[in-house]
Amino acid sequence: MRVVIAGGHGKIALLLERQLAERGDQAAGLVRNQAHVAEVGQAGAEAVVCDLEAASAGDVAALLAGADAVVFAAGAGPGSGVPRKDSVDRAASVLMAEAAGQAGVRRFVQVSSMGAGQPPRPGSDEVWAAYIAAKTAAEDDLRGRDLDWTIVRPGGLTDAPAAGLVRLAPPPVPRGTIPRADVAAVIVALLDQPGTRHQTLELVSGDSSVVAAVRSLSR
Ligand SMILES: NC(=O)c1ccc[n+]([C@@H]2O[C@H](COP(=O)([O-])OP(=O)(O)OC[C@H]3O[C@@H](n4cnc5c(N)ncnc54)[C@H](OP(=O)(O)O)[C@@H]3O)[C@@H](O)[C@H]2O)c1
Repeated sequence: MRVVIAGGHGKIALLLERQLAERGDQAAGLVRNQAHVAEVGQAGAEAVVCDLEAASAGDVAALLAGADAVVFAAGAGPGSGVPRKDSVDRAASVLMAEAAGQAGVRRFVQVSSMGAGQPPRPGSDEVWAAYIAAKTAAEDDLRGRDLDWTIVRPGGLTDAPAAGLVRLAPPPVPRGTIPRADVAAVIVALLDQPGTRHQTLELVSGDSSVVAAVRSLSR
């Protein structure tokens, strides 16, 4: 399987690339910074330089030729302000989905966030509100497309080692945290189970094995 990952130098993306490479799949990570190419290569993936805030859908569609799946794992990140929540968390996801459609790559896994799909909690700061609005808009865009999409909304991400035990279910799932390594493992399992398409799933640490959790949602 060839998987193109948007935000290829992100923390989840690097773990995902490693997991795909270890089992013999091909991963390509889209990065905007030439300095990140070597580290993506060390994770076992091909690095492709592409700034998702500057590229056109046609540019990205050309990079998706021959891919079996797209994973959107980009994000403007914790240090960013309101404008980049829109230009990355929303617009770059829309761009990837548009490009996937143009390239005929049907399978699309989007990393969203718990909290998306509802208004931000009262008293939230404007950057958090913009982030949640961007994630919600990206989800809504994807649901409207003729793609085999799955939306994953992780809870708070940690860098703890993989536990291999998760709670993955349609909302609402009580808030919690999850290691990024477990999120990456869930994405791999979702790619293996296209029967999980057209579902929005919340994800925190739990007591089901990753494969069992994903299989139980396949239809
Ligand atoms: N933090 C949490 O608790 C939490 C909870 C739920 C969901 N999430 C979501 O989970 C996703 C992945 O998380 P993570 O921790 O792996 O994120 P991360 O380490 O911040 O990775 C995001 C990646 O997106 C890349 N990116 C930003 N702008 C780009 C652009 N214009 N073109 C190409 N790539 C670009 C960044 O590259 P640069 O290094 O060049 O900026 C970075 O490598 C994000 O969407 C995040 O919002 C986070």
